[in-house]
Amino acid sequence: MVSNIVVLGSTGSVGRSTMDVLRANRGRFRLLGLAAGGNIQLLEKQVAEFAPLAVSVKSQRAARELQEKFPRLRVFHGNDGLDEIVSLPGCDGVVAAINGTDGLQAAFRTVRLGRRLCLANKETLVAAGELIQREAAVAGAEIVPIDSEQSAIFQCLAGSSREQVRRVILTASGGPFFRDAERDLAAITVAEALAHPTWSMGRKITIDSATLMNKALEVIEASSLFHLAPEQVDVVIHPQSVVHSLVEFSDASVLAQMSVPDMRLPILYALSHPQRLAGPCPSLDLAALQKLEFYPVDARRFPALQLAYDVLRQGRNAGAVFNTANEVAVEYFLAGRIGFTAIPAVVARVLDREGFQPLGGLDDVLQTIALTRKKTIATIEKEVMK
Ligand SMILES: NC(=O)c1ccc[n+]([C@@H]2O[C@H](COP(=O)([O-])OP(=O)(O)OC[C@H]3O[C@@H](n4cnc5c(N)ncnc54)[C@H](OP(=O)(O)O)[C@@H]3O)[C@@H](O)[C@H]2O)c1
Repeated sequence: MVSNIVVLGSTGSVGRSTMDVLRANRGRFRLLGLAAGGNIQLLEKQVAEFAPLAVSVKSQRAARELQEKFPRLRVFHGNDGLDEIVSLPGCDGVVAAINGTDGLQAAFRTVRLGRRLCLANKETLVAAGELIQREAAVAGAEIVPIDSEQSAIFQCLAGSSREQVRRVILTASGGPFFRDAERDLAAITVAEALAHPTWSMGRKITIDSATLMNKALEVIEASSLFHLAPEQVDVVIHPQSVVHSLVEFSDASVLAQMSVPDMRLPILYALSHPQRLAGPCPSLDLAALQKLEFYPVDARRFPALQLAYDVLRQGRNAGAVFNTANEVAVEYFLAGRIGFTAIPAVVARVLDREGFQPLGGLDDVLQTIALTRKKTIATIEKEVMK
């Protein structure tokens, strides 16, 4: 269990759920620091409520204004600011809930300092899984997942050795278009793609859920977190989002972790592990649910998933390329500049042309991200937005 925590991305969906968890456990956890991007209004409210020692924001200007309002608060900004926040003396756990790869450097810093990385940001493991795992092992830092599927696997694995695991089965809600098999996916609007049936999340991950790119990222994340071969990570569609994932052991026994779909549960567990604390999450009413359904993935309609297995087999910097190409394609979709089905098509095209390189360190990852951004933008603007 950690006690003195820092929350990166406190104004986002996972960040706000983390604040709820802290509210429900006042006295158990001490909030040392917060980091946010541009939602300064909400950050100010969080500062007033939780009185952290320090905060970090994206821009220098916002940092200056915040400092004037809260003269006793230590205020940082930018990537260096994130580094300062995770390095606060006494901190033993960092909730990493910045979206995209902006929080990558701070995640590395956290594990190098030997602190528990409570990881919501799946992009960290997709882009740099092997490197960060290596750094964590050297420093003796724990990486405890917050992503509900990975948390489910983490919980099911308690007390078993990796040799006993036959495979893990990630559940996917299927997103908003799963039940509508006749629907022309190419015509889907941004508003339709943002209407997730079971989870309320940030915009980027909601689009990833609709394309199943989110599950593709999680296949890579699971392989990295639990040291599994690609063929040991399966996916099944489960529209109710109540079974968060499952583990099949060598004797064919299957364990599942279940709860209402509420991110506050895996967040609390990442902080309290190996203990369990009472939290704000309501109980599961199985009789009210009546049925739990499971379906195979339609790989023809949702080609994103297969890309993840190709990326895992490629290794090297393929994960960083994959994640960045998707990030850029989602930005273009959200801006209404490319269609829904262009997202996996662009990612596949960028991957196809790449000669993958080994990753020696964080700088190589950041360089891959910068280069892939440029290449993806060029691919979209020259070949897709004709
Ligand atoms: N939402 C979920 O239920 C869920 C579930 C599993 C995993 N995840 C993963 O968790 C991560 C966060 O997801 P989310 O849905 O919470 O995203 P979100 O709602 O978009 O929130 C992102 C947070 O990151 C902050 N941020 C962005 N750039 C920043 C920067 N350069 N410096 C400091 N802060 C920055 C944002 O600040 P401002 O808002 O102030 O700009 C916001 O607080 C993603 O990697 C996602 O894949 C989310």
